[in-house]
Amino acid sequence: MKHIDIKNIFTDKSCIGQEVTVCGWVRTARNSKTMAFMAINDGTTLNHLQIVIDKSADIDFEDALHLGTSVKVTGTAVEDRNGSVEINAKEITVLGSCPADYPLQKKRHTLEFLRTMPHLRGRTNTFNAVLRVRSVMAEAIHQYFQDRNFVYVNTPLITGSDCEGAGEMFQVTTIGYSNDYKNEEEYYADDFFGRRAGLSVSGQLEGEVAAMAMGKIYTFGPSFRAENSNTPKHLAEFWHVEPEIAFAELPDIIETAESMVKYVIRTVLDTCPEEMKFFDAHFEKGIIDRLEELISHEFGVCDYTEAIRLLKESGEDFQYPVEWGCDLQTEHERYISEKVFKKAVFVTNYPKEIKSFYMKQNPDGKTVAAVDLLVPGVGEIIGGSEREADYDKLVEAMNARGMNLDLYTDYLDLRKYGSVPHGGFGLGFERLIMYVTGVSNIRDVILYPRTVGSIR
Ligand code: 4AD
Repeated sequence: MKHIDIKNIFTDKSCIGQEVTVCGWVRTARNSKTMAFMAINDGTTLNHLQIVIDKSADIDFEDALHLGTSVKVTGTAVEDRNGSVEINAKEITVLGSCPADYPLQKKRHTLEFLRTMPHLRGRTNTFNAVLRVRSVMAEAIHQYFQDRNFVYVNTPLITGSDCEGAGEMFQVTTIGYSNDYKNEEEYYADDFFGRRAGLSVSGQLEGEVAAMAMGKIYTFGPSFRAENSNTPKHLAEFWHVEPEIAFAELPDIIETAESMVKYVIRTVLDTCPEEMKFFDAHFEKGIIDRLEELISHEFGVCDYTEAIRLLKESGEDFQYPVEWGCDLQTEHERYISEKVFKKAVFVTNYPKEIKSFYMKQNPDGKTVAAVDLLVPGVGEIIGGSEREADYDKLVEAMNARGMNLDLYTDYLDLRKYGSVPHGGFGLGFERLIMYVTGVSNIRDVILYPRTVGSIR
């Protein structure tokens, strides 16, 4: 269907005076005595295109003047009073009619209401803006790594080993357990892969395999977590960006994480000014200035032990008590980034008991070379570490956690054959989108959110 994107009508001034064809969904419609008007949007821009209909001309338009109707319009592009562009219609074709019970009426709907219709909410300005910013951010992530000699690898989604060891893996099976099996072992042996399998919580372990050959790699794909966390920042299926870098130590990982986040934010500010103005007006006043501020300063770095001291001395009445050895809760993360540092901050060197088996053990015997990036408003958006590159220490850490070493033979081999210092991190893509847009619930930055008790 030959037509011009509405975005191009607004940006390509050579359209003015020309006959053009555009398509879109009717967002507003008005019928007066001699003229009729409708604003249409095709999803390429936040700006609606005004269609002007002279009722004295022979144009069939009545069926088009309903919200949600999809139309094709041919007419002349002209400059309007404000220097923008509108179309003087010559011919209007209704592609798909839309009855009066169309749920998206002119008023502003709440995000909760829109969540009940994921198949339609993309047609609102909010989701139009979120999905476009998300697309620009994805492109920026690829660009950042591609420009710096990282190789994009695709790690398996179905896996036999739980990377984080937190028991949050969704099981993959083609048969259900029944009493016909004597025990679990027999059941798994009969299943598709002949052993227990699940959906990957992280591509890191296979990412390390690739990094031990290609030097610098990144993955960008979905991770799955059967976490029973019904919070505004947890999804059961989220998109995960995971770079893995050979010949690198913790400060190198921190440097990459900071420069990647800054690059992505800079790109959004430069590429999506309309969308960012929209978020500034409707979601978080001052967000553009705040992002500019964030990327113009170095991120903070704070040792976990120091963070615990700051939290204990804060005088704040936290819901979760703070003691050395505890995991930081969102309220603690937000206090550190919002109240103490007032910017993005890396917290490093966590107690080994609360972190994963693969993290490099520090000489103090108590902590590991882990790092989380905390940002104001959201809390943790990145988790990473230098990896334990020493075979014996790694085996010791796995044994201490009661892990089945047979499931990790490939991983252990990497420490046997030319082991090198290396590390990486995982960025929760939706968490960064929340931060950049000011949208405060993770369910509203992905087309179809999957959360505990809810799938559509
Ligand atoms: O801190 P996490 O669990 O780290 C890992 O998975 C490492 N294997 C990453 C690595 O070093 N390659 O997760 C990394 C990030 C978190 O900081 C968070 O932003 C995001 O993934 N994340 C989630 N995002 C949405 N919903 C969930 N349920 C998430 N779980 C983690």
